[in-house]
Amino acid sequence: MVSKKKWSCWWIINISLQVSQSALNIPLITDPRFIDNCVKAHNKVRAMVSPTAANMKTMSWDHELATLAKSWAMECKFRHNSCLALSYKCGTKYQFVGENIWLGPLRKFTADSAVVAWYNETVFYDYYTHKCSKVCGHYTQVVWANTNKVGCALAMCPNLAGEGAAIFVCDYGPPGNYLRTFPYINGKTCSLCDKDETCVKKLCQRSAKPAETSNSRPSSRPQGSRPAKGSASQQKACSVLALYLLSIFL
Ligand SMILES: *[C@@H]1O[C@H](CO)[C@@H](O)[C@H](O)[C@H]1NC(C)=O
Repeated sequence: MVSKKKWSCWWIINISLQVSQSALNIPLITDPRFIDNCVKAHNKVRAMVSPTAANMKTMSWDHELATLAKSWAMECKFRHNSCLALSYKCGTKYQFVGENIWLGPLRKFTADSAVVAWYNETVFYDYYTHKCSKVCGHYTQVVWANTNKVGCALAMCPNLAGEGAAIFVCDYGPPGNYLRTFPYINGKTCSLCDKDETCVKKLCQRSAKPAETSNSRPSSRPQGSRPAKGSASQQKACSVLALYLLSIFL
């Protein structure tokens, strides 16, 4: 006879799996592939600007910005985080933070296509006159020369555009889009990199990379812990497993 507890364990696990079905493809902000995709997408278009940039910095990942992006993405509001323009309200590192938001069906989402969609506003922007004929703010933030840190996050938001709708939020530091300021200085590629930067793939990259702190990484997770025998420990294992499933999927 199958014990009642065993069934309720199944039940909990099934529920958590069903709840998480749509969230299955939502990457964590610590997922190295997601991080790499977001960073590469930005650096790819930053190296593409026309006219060429003399001082365009390489962007790298910032966990604090990604955490900010994640918490805002999970709010599922298609507008900017209200902390952006408030001094030191978006975190401790930056006085102000920049932000881009993409909304669309999850099945069509890649970090690259979202960033390219923002970059594509370049057709509305005239570098020489610094005029914008339609929408340019996402573009100018993506190619803001001084912005060297980015953190992005994805969340499911059926309330915004129906089932399968996802929101992609990227937060930037230091922020771009200052009024009457050019996003970058036009000139020979990398000709205005700082002294401690070298030219890597058309971008000014800090040579002496500060050591990454490893304590911001999540500690190791249980790898499919097997329920132990005995009902108390079984129940405990069940709730641990259910919590674990919820934590990785939500
Ligand atoms: C961006 O623009 C290019 C060139 O016009 C176009 O081929 C591409 O489909 C656009 N991509 C997105 C994601 O808007």
